[in-house]
Amino acid sequence: MQPLETSKGSVAFRPANIGDVEKFRALRLFALKDAPTAFSGDYALSAEAPTRYWENRLKPSEGSIVFLAEHHNDPIGTVGIQQGDRPKTRHSAVIWGVYVRPEWRGLHLAEHLIEACVHWTKSRRVELVKLAVVTENASAIRCYERCGFKTYGTDPRAIYYEGRYYDEYLMAREID
Ligand SMILES: CC(C)(COP(=O)(O)OP(=O)(O)OC[C@H]1O[C@@H](n2cnc3c(N)ncnc32)[C@H](O)[C@@H]1OP(=O)(O)O)[C@@H](O)C(=O)NCCC(=O)NCCS
Repeated sequence: MQPLETSKGSVAFRPANIGDVEKFRALRLFALKDAPTAFSGDYALSAEAPTRYWENRLKPSEGSIVFLAEHHNDPIGTVGIQQGDRPKTRHSAVIWGVYVRPEWRGLHLAEHLIEACVHWTKSRRVELVKLAVVTENASAIRCYERCGFKTYGTDPRAIYYEGRYYDEYLMAREID
């Protein structure tokens, strides 16, 4: 993938691998603390998880991948995608963990991360990519709509955090 030249410098995009476990762990934990209602993942549980858990998330496999956005080798954004693993679900994939560090937002880095996922699906006969986003997360919704995702439903009370429930929009994009 080509690096992206931004007003803050060059950003490289690449698939993560098992050697990125500490980088990915640190970024994901930062994300869970920074935006707790954006993810179903839990900071405290994730912080206690053994290295094996993080390695399993990064381990290259036929049906899943994590991408990193980096500036001078520092991870500044991430996304994961998981293809259905059964004959009846292989035609779709779910994007998870979309995150860009606060100081790098507004530069459409998330769009590039999502396009990396969509590109990855193309050789895998994936017809549909899905994701879920909290209905109040205007920044993410704008980004997903720009990437061609359309809302097909609402998951009520999808997230519970500190005494409040959050609904999520379910969004999907057809893959040509
Ligand atoms: C959602 C998120 C991934 C978008 O990443 P991004 O690379 O900044 O995306 P974009 O540059 O396309 O910006 C999306 C929208 O955010 C808003 N935005 C612009 N600058 C921003 C900034 N500095 N900070 C926050 N939001 C900003 C704008 O509305 C923008 O839409 P527009 O360009 O059409 O005006 C990022 O805000 C993020 O990591 N948020 C916290 C975690 C999260 O919500 N993840 C999504 C889980 S579903």
